[in-house]
Parts: sequence; C-alpha cells; structure tokens
Amino acid sequence: MCIAPPIQATTLSDLVVTPPTDSHHTLLLDSTVLPKFSHRVRFTRGAFDAANPALRNLFAADEAIATRRAVVLIDDGVARAYGDALETKLRAYFAAHATSMPVIAEICVVPGGEAVKQDTRLCDLVVELVEKHRICRKSFVIAIGGGAMLDAVGFGSAIAHRGVRLVRLPTTVLAQDDAAMGVKNGINRFGKKNFVGAFAVPFAVLCDELLLETLPDAVFRAGFSEAVKIALLKDPMFFAEIEQNAERIAARNLDAASPVIRRSAELHLRHIADGGDPFESNAARPLDFGHWAAHRLESMSGYAISHGDAVALGLLLDCRYSNLMNSKAEGWLSDADYARICACIKRLGLPTHHPLFADQDALLRGLDEFREHLGGTLTITMLRGIGRGVEIHELDTTLVRAAATELA
Ligand SMILES: NC(=O)c1ccc[n+]([C@@H]2O[C@H](COP(=O)([O-])OP(=O)(O)OC[C@H]3O[C@@H](n4cnc5c(N)ncnc54)[C@H](O)[C@@H]3O)[C@@H](O)[C@H]2O)c1
Ligand SMILES: [Zn+2]
Repeated sequence: MCIAPPIQATTLSDLVVTPPTDSHHTLLLDSTVLPKFSHRVRFTRGAFDAANPALRNLFAADEAIATRRAVVLIDDGVARAYGDALETKLRAYFAAHATSMPVIAEICVVPGGEAVKQDTRLCDLVVELVEKHRICRKSFVIAIGGGAMLDAVGFGSAIAHRGVRLVRLPTTVLAQDDAAMGVKNGINRFGKKNFVGAFAVPFAVLCDELLLETLPDAVFRAGFSEAVKIALLKDPMFFAEIEQNAERIAARNLDAASPVIRRSAELHLRHIADGGDPFESNAARPLDFGHWAAHRLESMSGYAISHGDAVALGLLLDCRYSNLMNSKAEGWLSDADYARICACIKRLGLPTHHPLFADQDALLRGLDEFREHLGGTLTITMLRGIGRGVEIHELDTTLVRAAATELA
C-alpha cells in the first residue's frame, strides 16, 4: 500500500489541515465557510408605474442584465384581484426599461395560499420553468404573491441549479412585514409546517404597499400578528405604537398601517442580518416566539386557520404562560402587560380564542415536534415583560394546559 507523505499541520487562510496520526490514516480538513450575501429590501408604492425606478434599480449592478431572462410567477389571488391589467402593466414596465431589466421569458399565474405548500406541484413547476426557459444562475425567478406562494416558489428557486436568483414581490401584510424578509423557503409535509425546505437569501425584495389594497380584511389583519410578535420581543415603543393605532390599522388606514409594516420588516431583517445565526444553527429561535403552538394549531385545523391568526393565538398562549409563571417565581410578565397584549390583539381584529385549544393533548404534541426540529433540546422564548424575551428549555405542561383552557 502506498501512503502519501505526511503533510505538516498548517493554517492556510482559515483551513486547518491536520495530518493522519492514527492507524486509519484519518486526515482532518477543518475550515469555516462564510459566504456573504447582500439582502436588499425596498418598500414603495406603485412598483409597476413606468416612472417608478425602484424595480429597475434592483438590477442596476448587473451589466449584462438585458441578456438575462426572467420567469414571472403571479399568485392567483393577486391575478384575480387585478385582472389582465397587472400583466399588461408589468410587460409595459419591462418594455419601458428594456435596457436595464431582464427579458420576460414567461408570465405564469399559479395558485396561492397555504394549499400550495401541501405538495410539491408548485416547486416542481418552478424547476420545470427554469429548465424550459434556460434560466441560468444569473437569471431570475420573479415571484409576486403571498407568503405561502413565496415560500414554495422560493424553494423551487433554491433547488433548481442549486439556486437561481429570486426576486420577491410580497403582496400580503404578513409577507411584507415578515415572510419576504426571511431567508427560509419551504413546504409542509407529514402534516408538519415547513418540514421540507432550504435556506436561500433572495436576490432582492420589493414591497409595493398599494398591492395590499385588494386583500380580504381577514388576510390584511392577520399579518399584524407578526408585527406584534417582533415588538413584544424587541421594542416596547413599537408595541406602544401598534397599540395606539390598532383600530386605525384594523380599519385599513394605510397611514397607520404602513409605518408598522415597515418597522416590523426592519426589525425582522435586523435580527436575521445582525443576530449572528441567519441559517438557524443554534437552538434559540426568537423569531419563532408563539410559533410552536401556532404551527400546531395550523396543522390541527387542516390549515383552515391562517398562519397570521395562528400566530396571534400562539402568542397569547405563550404570553399567558409567561404571566402564569409569576405563581412559581418573581419577574415574569405582569397582569397589566398581559392585559395590554390581549387588548391590542383584539383591537387589531385578530382572534383571541379558539376551540382547538381544548384539545390539549394534540396541542402539546407541537412541543415534541418543535423539540425534535431543534435537535433534541427545547428552546422557547417567553416574556419577562414587553420587549424582554427570555429563553427557557422546559415548559410546565400544567401551566400550558391552564393557559390553553382559558383561550379555548
Ligand atoms: N419564509 C419565512 O421566513 C416565513 C415567515 C413567516 C411566514 N411564512 C409563511 O407565510 C405563509 C403565510 O403567508 P400569508 O399570510 O401571506 O398568506 P398566503 O400566502 O396564504 O395568502 C393568503 C391569501 O391571500 C391571497 N392574496 C395574496 N396577495 C393578495 C392580494 N394583494 N390581493 C388579494 N389576494 C391576495 C392569496 O392568494 C391567498 O389566497 C405561511 O405559510 C407561513 O408559514 C414564511
Ligand atoms: Zn410566522
């Protein structure tokens, strides 16, 4: 047997090479892979008005942009709301900026809503369109739609060629104030949320607030649960702002809603960019505050409860739990703060009770799923106060049951 001469242990850039020292000739190559991504998010109004440069400017750094191709996918909820006018406007915009934009290869209307995350059809379609139109890794999938459609299209875009450039144009409140900021893409399987997916940073995100006008009331309001979530975690002043404007937001006043959507997006993005763990290697998941129960309620309801509504309910459960913890030790969420949170969620027009909270055995299975997903050790964020999250690793199920009973 020929054995290569031993290599000296050396540090080249970050790569540490440790030569074999054992009888199995085990060579160690240890390095840190630190890819840097730019994550660009824009908020605007009237993205497809020819005079609005926001969309065109996203492509400015690519000198070969006019030779690139783009497949555009539109959520059918959006397509129904705007009719043919949307496609006409989109094509006119691309034509007006032809030298600074990719060429549209095809515009496809695709189903939207949580149903598209229940199987692989939409992902498969994206992969097929990438192949059909020879979308290379420098070309684009442009997705216009709600968070569910963006998640499924994002997953297809992440796996075709191991990742083509994805431009997201989120069209719901929840997609603009949270989902489209995320670096996660995925679909549901085995009755479990986001069981299959991939981390991938989008090429760019463009939020057009005028596209929110056609949302059904319930979909519009549902998105503010994620703003409440991030405010409770990070920013008591922001929570107070939401509280003060809750009725105007629920009445769809854009002057009240827009700053909240934008601030929520910024806080989500800050956490992802500055939190030190964008691809969630650690157990702590602050952005998943309220989500262990939310995901379980969605699944228990056969996805009849929307993600936004489920988050409102999941937040209330964990807030009440944080409040009930005062019976065991000092320094948890006060009665007054819990009352403020309940009132705020109610005034936003979000649900505060659900009969599924009565099935607590089924609900608690959500904790096991979350623990398994995290890698065995449970880490859940609870509140010591508004803006003061704390991580815990065990839950007192008696208190969870007591909180759930009140919310049933
Ligand atoms: N990737 C992430 O980091 C992340 C973060 C948060 C949430 N999510 C996911 O986002 C999903 C929820 O997204 P959502 O709340 O946007 O709901 P959704 O995507 O299910 O959309 C709700 C409904 O609104 C319709 N619609 C969308 N835009 C419209 C418009 N402008 N006018 C009229 N109808 C319109 C859709 O067709 C759909 O029927 C969940 O699956 C959740 O898991 C992902
Ligand atoms: Zn969420």
